[in-house]
Amino acid sequence: MKVGFIGYGNMGSIMVRSLLCSGALDPENVMVSNRSATRMSSLKEHYPAVEQTTDNTVVARKSGLIFICVRSDQVDEVVREILPSLDPLAHVVLINGGVSMAEIQQNYGLKISKVIPSVTMEVGRGVTLICHGQVVEKGQKELLENMFGSVGPVKVIVEDCFDVGTYMTSCGPAFVAAFIEEFAEAAVRQGSFSRDEARAMVTETVLATAALMIERGKSSEEICHSVATRGGITEEGLKVLHRGLPSIFDEVVRVTLVKHEQS
Ligand SMILES: NC(=O)c1ccc[n+]([C@@H]2O[C@H](COP(=O)([O-])OP(=O)(O)OC[C@H]3O[C@@H](n4cnc5c(N)ncnc54)[C@H](OP(=O)(O)O)[C@@H]3O)[C@@H](O)[C@H]2O)c1
Repeated sequence: MKVGFIGYGNMGSIMVRSLLCSGALDPENVMVSNRSATRMSSLKEHYPAVEQTTDNTVVARKSGLIFICVRSDQVDEVVREILPSLDPLAHVVLINGGVSMAEIQQNYGLKISKVIPSVTMEVGRGVTLICHGQVVEKGQKELLENMFGSVGPVKVIVEDCFDVGTYMTSCGPAFVAAFIEEFAEAAVRQGSFSRDEARAMVTETVLATAALMIERGKSSEEICHSVATRGGITEEGLKVLHRGLPSIFDEVVRVTLVKHEQS
């Protein structure tokens, strides 16, 4: 079965390259279409066997599984364009937090799932969120979940949970990167380390802490407890974090949910 991707922008290209790189997809079975051909030129270099086109209806006609990787406001137009070319049994996948899967399913009668990927899939990590519409078949669900399982853990959820899930897993890499930046910048301002040194030290610390949690099963409480000796310097720093972080993250989740609703 051919797997088609419509839209080869930031997320479409990360998905195609990551799934090819993990071996979940065979280049011979992949088709990509994008509005502008130039965007796909690097794909041709690395994966010459992947079929490329600027005609979305060609992808729709030939593929049994089709990912629509355009921006939220472009989805409806693409669905209407490809609808006459789609096999009625084809499985269509959306990647947009702001597009209602139920609405698309109801309006167009498609077998539809939603996948919210994370840019971290490029390194085979990070959670992919998946939700299936009512008429998607068991085999189609399994195929999709196994495919994304090759680039990190998959969490199957109901559509109503996408907004909060997206805040953690899909927006998450940007939030963690911003946290690393501010953590390092505070050290840079003290004048002992260059920006590059501080970024490298903090990034390694974040990676190592995550490894302790994932590989050794340590909780954040256990890690805080083992580092922060009573009356020590870490304890003082943690007091500041516990005072400030809850309200910061409450605000971050609040604004992302508001935006999610508006999009
Ligand atoms: N970034 C993330 O971490 C992330 C995670 C999960 C989900 N998403 C979602 O992914 C969606 C896409 O985001 P993005 O950052 O990948 O956007 P993007 O970089 O703008 O990519 C959109 C691509 O779609 C192409 N396109 C637009 N209309 C088309 C049409 N009618 N036919 C064929 N191709 C068309 C564009 O082609 P041109 O080259 O001609 O402009 C562009 O390459 C967003 O809704 C976002 O919410 C993003």
